[in-house]
Amino acid sequence: MQQLDTAKDLRAWRGEAGGSVGLVPTMGNLHAGHLALVAAARASCDRVVVSIFVNPLQFGPNEDLDSYPRTLDADMRALEQAGADAVFAPDVAQIYPHGGTTVTTVRVEGITDMLCGSRRPGHFEGVATVVTKLLNLVGPDRAFFGEKDFQQLAVIRRLVDDLCMRVDIVGVPTVREADGLALSSRNQYLQAEERKRAPALAAALEDCKARLAEGERDFAALEARGRAAIDAAGLETDYFEIRSPELFAPRADMNAFRVLAAAFLGRARLIDNVAVEAAPGQ
Ligand code: PAJ
Repeated sequence: MQQLDTAKDLRAWRGEAGGSVGLVPTMGNLHAGHLALVAAARASCDRVVVSIFVNPLQFGPNEDLDSYPRTLDADMRALEQAGADAVFAPDVAQIYPHGGTTVTTVRVEGITDMLCGSRRPGHFEGVATVVTKLLNLVGPDRAFFGEKDFQQLAVIRRLVDDLCMRVDIVGVPTVREADGLALSSRNQYLQAEERKRAPALAAALEDCKARLAEGERDFAALEARGRAAIDAAGLETDYFEIRSPELFAPRADMNAFRVLAAAFLGRARLIDNVAVEAAPGQ
């Protein structure tokens, strides 16, 4: 496995990589969720490159940029085991060559006005900008993103279409702990007692999913129920929303949905979502 620190090294590696190339963008501190993306890339591409870059542009002024866990040595070992061919781990100057700043950004309208986008101003502009840079640097055939960050996946699919980029965006299902909690680097911020309460988020989503699958269509009541269950477990709901699979407002005659939620717990802000698929024959 090769460690590539500069854009120049990355371009050289890409020039020599034969066959199809898969890119897995990450911010490091890798867990089994990230490794599921690497496994998906490994299964469908000849060469796999993983990027590790904590992107300052996607963090708000009061967010956790400075405390975000950075564990490059352990990440390198995990990626070696997972069969990655190369790791691109640049510093900020490689990605933002003009003194760490950029006057060019990528803004995806509409889909970023809701859910996490309306709570974290500028966040998706930072994500869209860095993902565009990474896709330009690598020129992969496929790039892999987790459904855990479902709105992020939707933003990236749209930007790739709108900017006519020649890359397939592949979504990978969320990897969870045995008690349902979605794996996240930010779960480490939880104290032991908070960690015990954290599965309430996934449980509320599952409950809503079951009710929608049974035909309940009072969306406002279902959302209120979801928020109440999360708050009752000692978390503070940020949002709990039923949407169409493309994140539009749901219609009562639909039978496929996405339910998305975010909640504060101690120092962490947790997000999660579930798909409600159409039942066969419906
Ligand atoms: P990061 O939070 O490190 O996540 C990297 C990728 O791993 C994302 O596509 C995310 O959706 C996926 N992922 C995280 N937890 C997961 C889980 N439990 N199951 C499945 N996939 C999971 O998301 C980012 O970094 C950044 O915004 C990035 C896209 C790298 C741009 O900076």
